[in-house]
Amino acid sequence: MKVTNPMNVADYGNPGRKDHPPKFLKALAGEAATTPPVWLMRQAGRYLPEYRELRGTAGSFLNLCYTPALASEATLQPIRRFGFDAAIIFSDILVIPHALGQHVEFVEGEGPRLTPVKTRQEFAQLSASRVLGHLEPVFEAIHLTVSKLGAGTPLIGFCGAPWTVASYMAEGGGSPDQRAAKLLAYRDPRLFKDIVDLLVEASAAYLIRQVEAGANALQIFDSWASSLSDEDFDAFVILPTAEIVRLVKAVHPDVPIIGFPRGSCPHYRDYVRKTGVDALGCDTAAPLPAMASAQEHCPVQGNLDPLLLLAGGDAMERRTRSILQALSGKPFVFNLGHGILPETPIENVSTLLRLIRNEKF
Ligand code: CP3
Repeated sequence: MKVTNPMNVADYGNPGRKDHPPKFLKALAGEAATTPPVWLMRQAGRYLPEYRELRGTAGSFLNLCYTPALASEATLQPIRRFGFDAAIIFSDILVIPHALGQHVEFVEGEGPRLTPVKTRQEFAQLSASRVLGHLEPVFEAIHLTVSKLGAGTPLIGFCGAPWTVASYMAEGGGSPDQRAAKLLAYRDPRLFKDIVDLLVEASAAYLIRQVEAGANALQIFDSWASSLSDEDFDAFVILPTAEIVRLVKAVHPDVPIIGFPRGSCPHYRDYVRKTGVDALGCDTAAPLPAMASAQEHCPVQGNLDPLLLLAGGDAMERRTRSILQALSGKPFVFNLGHGILPETPIENVSTLLRLIRNEKF
């Protein structure tokens, strides 16, 4: 078979491109590899000079997300440079509240700002009916990206999990303790459940269309899953995620879904068993033995500290070897424990990839 390299992908020893199916999808299907597939959360972004340039021409962050040619270019940039084993479509978890009708903006240097939704009247302004139309540019970007990637590099579609997205919606932005979402859930459980149900419906429809546009796998980001009691974890994280997985699988039974319930290692077993996700994304705080025992049930992904990637050197190399040693013999996708930081030196990413791809376990 002729191996095409439509984008001049830099060769960091990526053997996955010649495989069929690619090793990322094999790992998600439960196969172990001598060298694990690797991609990095937030692999498109500000640590890349070519991203900063593209971002400058786009005007606003949301304009970058909603212009298919630009979003596709941002998705491809890290693949071209590093030959990661998977690409992730360039977008954001907050396009869902935006598509539902909430005001969302990204303020330079501050992060996302939304007009909070805390009352029944504010909730009544939102509507699931406009979601798919609003997100059409994302589907176009996926379509375009798949045609440029070629079959060797799978594309990941994604959404935020309802708890994490609802916490941005209630707070009107990021929050260290998800105070607004919790208070809303405790004071007006009915309204909170209506918000979560709306998010389940919109997110499932969004993921289904991403698969139809060409996404080969999906990830559900629950970045704020760490701050909940066991009962709340069940109600706000597990149940809504399980419902999204059920709705997506009813239409696309074979698409692999990675769940990333950040900071919730004590709940891993329940999370995997009850949500039906195919693979578990683990954050930095998850101990390697806990990840290894989760591997008895499903493939795992993670979990190098993004600050170790930023620091580089011996510390990064030592921990990378420990992760590979602990997890490589079973189904495993190498990743960070959270998103790559904008200050990360590009050389450290190259070093990390060489390290992963030259180690054999
Ligand atoms: O490469 C990729 O991973 C794909 C793109 C992607 C972005 N955001 C682009 C982005 C993905 C998968 C996300 C997910 C996301 N967005 C999460 C879940 C993962 C996590 O990090 O916990 C969350 C919580 C968000 C919400 C969000 N978006 C915040 C809090 C911020 C501001 C903080 C920051 O990093 O700037 C964003 C903005 C954002 N999303 C940027 C990028 C590249 C930076 C904005 C810019 O370029 O101006």
